Amino acid sequence: MNWRIKPLDAILASAEKKSLARTLGPFQLTMLGVGAVIGTGIFVLTAEAAQKAGPGMMLAFIIAGAVCAVTALCYAELAAMVPVSGSAYTYSYAVLGELIAWIVGWALILEYAVAASAVAVGWSNYFVPLIQHSFDIHIPIYLAKGYFAGGLINLPAVGIALLVTTLLVLGTRESAAVNATLVCIKVAALVLFIALALPVIKMENFHPFAPLGSLAVGGAAASIFFAYVGFDAVSTAAEETINPQRNMPIGLIGSLAICTVFYLLVAAGAIGSIGAQPVLDAAGQGIEPGTAALFEACKDPVKAALLVCSEEPLAHVLRELGWDKLSRLIGLAAFLALPSVILMMIFGQTRVFFSMARDKLLPEVLTKIHPRFNTPHVVTLITGAGVTLAAAFFPVGKLADLSNGGTLAAFFAVALGVMILRFTNPERKRPFRTPVVWLVGPLALIGCAVLFALLPTASKLVFFGWAAFGLLVYALYGYRRSAFATPQAKPPTLSPKLG
Ligand code: ALA
Repeated sequence: MNWRIKPLDAILASAEKKSLARTLGPFQLTMLGVGAVIGTGIFVLTAEAAQKAGPGMMLAFIIAGAVCAVTALCYAELAAMVPVSGSAYTYSYAVLGELIAWIVGWALILEYAVAASAVAVGWSNYFVPLIQHSFDIHIPIYLAKGYFAGGLINLPAVGIALLVTTLLVLGTRESAAVNATLVCIKVAALVLFIALALPVIKMENFHPFAPLGSLAVGGAAASIFFAYVGFDAVSTAAEETINPQRNMPIGLIGSLAICTVFYLLVAAGAIGSIGAQPVLDAAGQGIEPGTAALFEACKDPVKAALLVCSEEPLAHVLRELGWDKLSRLIGLAAFLALPSVILMMIFGQTRVFFSMARDKLLPEVLTKIHPRFNTPHVVTLITGAGVTLAAAFFPVGKLADLSNGGTLAAFFAVALGVMILRFTNPERKRPFRTPVVWLVGPLALIGCAVLFALLPTASKLVFFGWAAFGLLVYALYGYRRSAFATPQAKPPTLSPKLG
């Protein structure tokens, strides 16, 4: 076992040397969070959550949001105390040692890269019907869905993943202004949805509330957790934040609060207006979302009108309510705004890889900077290739569940880290202290562990397989090469452009 710890002061010193301009205030940070969070979760996975839990998905949104809230409070303490990039990976290196940091970094690959794939597939779900309804262009199903989603290859998802990767190699970093515009588009779409759906809700659509039982609601919470993934992206901007000690917690918790309110209103509108009862098989069991069986069942014209059968549920609800043109606007908003979530996720992934390579746990070639574009092109291209491959072949729900596994593991480490640091480093200045940490910390641990346990078995198995593979890579590579294995070795200096 290796418990090499990268001293907090060394981490802070390496960040000090870099000269990233501090330009982000609390408003921009909150916008950054909302920009990274609102995406495929609410726009697409609402239908899968309904198939799992029925109207009980409202509760699923609340449970997942609550777990994120307690974790955000822990995240905020570490992000304000260690305002450097690399997010949970860097914190764990300082607190729990290299081995755990490696596992967390490895888990973050699932969070960011796999989430990027999921959002690319979600984008394709809106893109395909949008061009069909607007321009009468039909993409055949075998080119619109991945092999494991009932088609062959998801070409639109491949296209958008490649486009975003190219933009990142060329050095596109969303400016605060572009981000704010896209956030406005997303929020406007959700407001439009709420304004049209809420007035026509019928209370009877909320009954039965949990047709498949409370465990199913828990399962839906574990899956819909994806809708909140990304609020931690705020922490990756710590080095570009004015007064991070104050603004970081505002950005993290503020963006989470805003998203939760929107999600609940949207979920209530969708359930209440057209109903959200799951499709059952002959034995009366809920059919698993994303499977061929559900796809077949949904071919029935009566079922096709159900929320749970739609792949672009928010547009679908408005169409069912008779707002055909406005439903296209929702599709257009998803078309325009979801790529920025992909961009944020791939960006986050490259920065985690970059931090790991800087610590020499991954090959140094990953820290290569393109001479002209001044971007880490090698790591971006590798990440982009992985994201594109996964997006090409897998269904959105499975990707989201896998991403959730990685995220929950990383969040668990953060919550543990905050508590350990209270013991090992009680004197260090904490500009933001997690309130009632001995309640909030354990709640975050339990929440993450329970949601993880409620994920589908296949996702958990893939997660553990991935972790085992990661340990092997560490044993064969990182352990010996680590910057801390050879104290005289200095980590490479970062380009000022990199976060
Ligand atoms: N939370 C982000 C989404 O739902 C990842 O797309």
